[in-house]
Amino acid sequence: MINSDRLWRTLQELSEIGRYHDEKSGLFGVNRLALTDADAEGRRRVRRWFEEAGLEVRVDRIGNVIGRRRGLDDALAPVMSGSHIDSVPTGGAFDGALGVLGALEVVRSLNDAGTATRRPIEIAFFTDEEGARFGTDMLGSAVAVGRLPLATALALTDHEGKSVESELSRIGFLGTHPERLSPPHAYVEVHVEQGPVLDAAAMELGVVTGVQAISWRELTITGRSAHAGTTPMRLRRDAGLAAARIDVKLDEMARSGRYGPEMRATMGRLEVWPGRVNVVPSRVIATADLRNPSDEGMARAEADLDAFLTSLAAELGVEIRWRQTAKTAHVPFSPAIQAVITRHVSALTPRWQPILSGAGHDAQELAAICPTAMVFVPGLYEGISHNPREYSTPEACARGVEVLGRAVVELANQ
Ligand code: GLV
Ligand code: MN
Ligand code: MN
Repeated sequence: MINSDRLWRTLQELSEIGRYHDEKSGLFGVNRLALTDADAEGRRRVRRWFEEAGLEVRVDRIGNVIGRRRGLDDALAPVMSGSHIDSVPTGGAFDGALGVLGALEVVRSLNDAGTATRRPIEIAFFTDEEGARFGTDMLGSAVAVGRLPLATALALTDHEGKSVESELSRIGFLGTHPERLSPPHAYVEVHVEQGPVLDAAAMELGVVTGVQAISWRELTITGRSAHAGTTPMRLRRDAGLAAARIDVKLDEMARSGRYGPEMRATMGRLEVWPGRVNVVPSRVIATADLRNPSDEGMARAEADLDAFLTSLAAELGVEIRWRQTAKTAHVPFSPAIQAVITRHVSALTPRWQPILSGAGHDAQELAAICPTAMVFVPGLYEGISHNPREYSTPEACARGVEVLGRAVVELANQ
């Protein structure tokens, strides 16, 4: 039902906003960190496309932008789809954008065909899914479903102390519409897999069974600055050494298999003060990102990490404080929506498999208020993502969006 050329063109057009040249790979990536000028330009462009597609557009108080296509029975709960258009600083053209522009393509195709649906259809882009600027992922969708209070989200700050509220206001996306969504009839999202599983198995589509547990912490380690040449090793309180030991510990924990075979751990931020060659570091801010399909494995890993931080602080004479910046349990998706997606997937290709998502998605928030599931398209180059090399073919994108369209129409006629 969809127009794959138009989908591809639209994906390319959005990827030009926030585009940057990666010297190392020679490729162009996307940097549309949430609520920056680039994100604002992307938002304006996609909002315009929503409006041109005849959607009634609203912006809520956390900056989520939702476009509504009326249903024949417009009082019924809508079928919803969407994703995000913010990116990490080293992003690609597909993460999030495929879900938003895929949903837009579905609406455009329905318009072209003059097809009406019984229920309204709403498509959205949610604020700061990545969490890469303000530290908490799925920010807009978490507020929309009531998991995170609006005031807490608006008060979050970036590294420079700029708040979500002031940045939303600055870019003109601090909306007035109430942020809480009334439960949709169903939510379906298409996304690039962002991992190697589908590509390695030569699969053309994935039916997503759920999202694994996520735990983010921000660590503040305080030691004592000292002279690198004169201070004996036994007299140091080296915050940098503590951070390095924690990073090594995280890697060891994830590789050990003790917390299940699929645990992952990453220290993605590591800032050292004063950051000079001849000064023992006095302070470090670092992050720990833990993922696990098993909530039980996650809980044990968190408890063991706590114990390690306590003993390391005593051993090195540093203070280690931490706060939880994001935490979600394993989210299973609706078997009924998976069944709808599976039917449309298998009509297109025998090459598909069920898959658990390794990345976080807005769909996992929507799953708290309505039956939800996702469809994945494979990415090339071992599914690399959060990297300019992120790539999915036009055919793969079209296949995923075709499934999205058929599932949305089926659900919107229920
Ligand atoms: C979002 O992309 C995440 O899983 O960190
Ligand atoms: Mn994403
Ligand atoms: Mn991402």
